[in-house]
Amino acid sequence: MDSQKNKATDLIRLAYEAQKRSYSPYSGFQTGAALETAGGKVYQGCNIENAGYTPSNCAERTAFFKAVSEGERSFTRIAVVGNYPGKPGDYCAPCGVCRQVMREFCDPETFEIIIARGPEDYKSFLLKELLPESFGPDDLV
Ligand code: THU
Repeated sequence: MDSQKNKATDLIRLAYEAQKRSYSPYSGFQTGAALETAGGKVYQGCNIENAGYTPSNCAERTAFFKAVSEGERSFTRIAVVGNYPGKPGDYCAPCGVCRQVMREFCDPETFEIIIARGPEDYKSFLLKELLPESFGPDDLV
């Protein structure tokens, strides 16, 4: 239990580190993510906004796309943080698009999503809880 908590805390700290690299001149909302592979490697991501607005990318998807483009296909959990600079953060839950991207590569029964508002203050969900009755790769022939 303790080692699990410490490990979640490590992941959250890495999400906060990634958040510092947020490129968010339009919303001003800064997010960070740390995605853990089955092999224990961690890929970080931040939100990257765009003057065209719709090309903006969330921290979670940045982390996934970095990892998948490096050949990773198996993931255990992701930590997500988000807040306006200088304002106390609340839990930042992944948007629907990011949940669907997770569904592509992760087992809904086991993949864990950790949302934190501090290194020691977090909540954890399984993907199946945040994306019930989902559509995934196994639904296509
Ligand atoms: N954002 C994320 O990066 N992750 C989330 O879970 C929610 C929202 C980003 C997208 C956009 O750059 C900014 O936060 C405001 O929506």
